[in-house]
Amino acid sequence: MAFVTSEQMLLKADKEGYAVGAFNVENMEMVMAVIKACEELSAPAILQTTPSTVKYAGLDMYLANVAEAAKKASVPIALHLDHGDSFELAMQALRTGYTSIMIDGSKLPFEENIALSKAVADACRPSGIPVEAELGKVGGKEDDMNCDDPGYTDPADAKRFVEETGISSLAVAIGTAHGIYKGEPKLDFDRLSEIRKVVNIPLVLHGASGVPDESVRECIRRGISKVNFATELRIAYSDGIKSFLKDNPDAFDPKKYCKVGMDKVTELVKNKIKVCGSNGKA
Ligand code: 13P
Repeated sequence: MAFVTSEQMLLKADKEGYAVGAFNVENMEMVMAVIKACEELSAPAILQTTPSTVKYAGLDMYLANVAEAAKKASVPIALHLDHGDSFELAMQALRTGYTSIMIDGSKLPFEENIALSKAVADACRPSGIPVEAELGKVGGKEDDMNCDDPGYTDPADAKRFVEETGISSLAVAIGTAHGIYKGEPKLDFDRLSEIRKVVNIPLVLHGASGVPDESVRECIRRGISKVNFATELRIAYSDGIKSFLKDNPDAFDPKKYCKVGMDKVTELVKNKIKVCGSNGKA
């Protein structure tokens, strides 16, 4: 169908009360597996790469993979830079052809986060590329990102942040964390509702791996329209390959063992799409 920006996708989800799944991909196989799930359920989706994923294969490699797969797909697909950690990387992603960009200044003091997020939003606007930024700190560890000092998003700050930066979507910190949870995460749903009352752009939930489905649904009911899943996809892909190689220790054809990992990712992503309510929304 189309390789699109995330802007219309998220505005439609926000209006109709569902969320678009945003899935972190590491290689061509994961790109193919995620898009297969989206096509089977007629769901729009965002595929995304973190800075350390970008370091692994390069922005242009992910763009080539996703853009080509998206062109052939029967559903709209966007490619998003997840947790862009500098103005320079955001601009490289823009020039490469990413159709959605996150700048993550959440570790900076409030005023500096505003200045960085505004600079990226201003630079992306002429090309029509939407920008996500984060306020408050999502805890946990993922790739090279580590946050031992999480901080919740303050609703009044969120209102000012959105007005002053001109961003397209806002990632909020309400108790989720990247990576694997030790216990069940305690989410501050009321805080999310307070943010929703004063912020009128799409809201993003990070760290959704391991969050119970019902909690993700509650976040969507209270105004989340993009949900990020990374760790569970990596685990599904790796577990599929590990189990195949355990049963077939002499296997040497990547097409055989990667296929098992891909099937696991497709199955997982289909479940997440249903939790997000984006099935049939392509
Ligand atoms: P998880 O690894 O917890 O799914 O978090 C994904 C995420 O928020 C990526 O930005």
